[in-house]
Amino acid sequence: MLALDVGGSVLLLALAAHGAVAAPHSNSRAPQYVVNRHRADAVKEAFQISWDGYYKHAFPHDSLRPISNGYSDDRNGWGASAVDAFSTALIMGNWDVVDQILDFIPCIDFDKTTTEVSLFETTIRYLGGLLSAHDLIKGPYYGHVNQSARVDAILEQAQRLADNLKVAFDTPSGVPDNSLFFNPPRKANGTTNGIATIGTLVLEWTRLSDLTNNTEYARLAQRGESYLLDPKPALGEPFPGLLGTNVDLETGRFVDDQGGWGGGTDSFYEYLIKMYLYDPERFGVYRDRWVLAADSSIQHLVSHPTTRDDLTFLAEWRGRKLRFVSEHLACFSGGNFILGGLLLHQPAYTDLGLALVDGCLATYSATATGLGPEMFAWQDARSGGGAGGDKARPPLAQRAFYAASGFWSTNAQYVLRPEVVESLYYAYRATGDVKYQEWAWDAFRRINATCRAGSGYSGVRDVNVDGGGGFLDFQESFWFAEVLKYSYLIQAEDAPWQVKADQTNEFVFNTEAHPIRLARGREGRDRR
Ligand SMILES: *[C@@H]1O[C@H](CO)[C@@H](O)[C@H](O)[C@H]1NC(C)=O
Ligand SMILES: *[C@@H]1O[C@H](CO)[C@@H](O)[C@H](O)[C@H]1NC(C)=O
Ligand SMILES: *[C@@H]1O[C@H](CO)[C@@H](O)[C@H](O)[C@H]1NC(C)=O
Ligand SMILES: *[C@@H]1O[C@H](CO)[C@@H](O)[C@H](O)[C@H]1NC(C)=O
Repeated sequence: MLALDVGGSVLLLALAAHGAVAAPHSNSRAPQYVVNRHRADAVKEAFQISWDGYYKHAFPHDSLRPISNGYSDDRNGWGASAVDAFSTALIMGNWDVVDQILDFIPCIDFDKTTTEVSLFETTIRYLGGLLSAHDLIKGPYYGHVNQSARVDAILEQAQRLADNLKVAFDTPSGVPDNSLFFNPPRKANGTTNGIATIGTLVLEWTRLSDLTNNTEYARLAQRGESYLLDPKPALGEPFPGLLGTNVDLETGRFVDDQGGWGGGTDSFYEYLIKMYLYDPERFGVYRDRWVLAADSSIQHLVSHPTTRDDLTFLAEWRGRKLRFVSEHLACFSGGNFILGGLLLHQPAYTDLGLALVDGCLATYSATATGLGPEMFAWQDARSGGGAGGDKARPPLAQRAFYAASGFWSTNAQYVLRPEVVESLYYAYRATGDVKYQEWAWDAFRRINATCRAGSGYSGVRDVNVDGGGGFLDFQESFWFAEVLKYSYLIQAEDAPWQVKADQTNEFVFNTEAHPIRLARGREGRDRR
């Protein structure tokens, strides 16, 4: 790899990725990427501070309460922050922390918990974190970490966890129940499940099958997904590819017609194109469904605020009626459209993705803290108002803010969410335009300025107040898995796990930002 030092940053003349695996490139060319060493190091330092606070005050519990130096077992008490930090520690080359986590993994008792288990959260955080660590250690880091019982335990623990979770799929339709209880594992016996919690299992469960040669995991997750790929009745698909939210566990039929790219539905759409990246041979139908959803979004959902028609957001829907509301969670969609544009060579998707990135970034730049709110609303320029919107007009106190900013906050918390930095990361990897690195660095510095508190980092109550209006005293495990990882990767050197613009991807990030090795990528198979 050839590098030139240019004014403090290192310009990579990217001949290829990492090490010995240079492969012939496809027709499209990769942008040149810039490494900002001091920024990457500052993010590593924030990781170390967050980890030290967690390790001292909360480990082996799930999450740190950084103000009170306490802990929370919000994810069943299996050490969620340690498992969620694993792939980030590996990518940052933080071997001390990797060593601590490697020691810990075999000790987790996945057979026991006293609280309700979410199939979805457990899959994306714990299963995703374990599979990713396995794929990194057996793949690009092969030989860096001593092959030992500690390494073998990673996959064994993943399989043990999935074996406990699989009772969730024992429903008449095969659509899983998201809520379980353990010791022994049993369903909570709900009646419906949502499309995000049904449709954000396939990557992790398919990967587990591919690694263990046991097809059962993939079969279970794909059976549940099959009802979303072929939605019934017509009520469940108000626009081609864009679905309702809830599905009946008895019949697999949709029971409502409202949806969006936000919480509860978001990562169902995200995984359609990511499954195609994982294995284009097996998941062509998933790609076709993503294309339908993307085309319908372009045709029906794109919206510009009355006061700022330069900004682009995606509306939600209730049937075919639009609602002009969105949220921080939905800001992943910019990155997902960019990924689809790259994989399918469709600039229209990339262009919409970049416009959505700008829109979400505008929710950051408008506030007192420079951080975006949890939820927001606007009036649609085309239909002349809040047609169909629940909150059709800005409250009096936010009229001036709306006139200047193009949105108003309906929930002003910031809880250490990653989606805006995540989409900036995809924008940078697709274009190589350093403005996205600058914006991600700005966002990181603002998060650091507002949320660094006590023994770690905490969510805040009100982004529209200087200083954030008070701490929530909670350091989410996804702070380790996602915000710190994407903030680091956008400034760091190229590597096999980085998103590629030229069809040479070797990994796909699950919705918790854990990189999973592609089934048939250049390094898709174990080198064992
Ligand atoms: C691997 O094992 C060797 C010999 O036991 C030891 O010297 C080395 O430090 C170990 N490396 C790591 C990364 O643990
Ligand atoms: C759900 O129903 C099954 C079968 O009737 C039962 O065995 C199980 O205990 C129920 N789960 C809960 C949490 O009550
Ligand atoms: C799965 O099958 C492949 C090919 O037959 C083999 O190389 C690999 O060791 C098997 N893995 C496991 C975990 O059994
Ligand atoms: C993060 O905040 C700490 C404490 O306020 C400060 O010392 C440090 O310089 C900040 N880091 C960055 C990158 O802004």
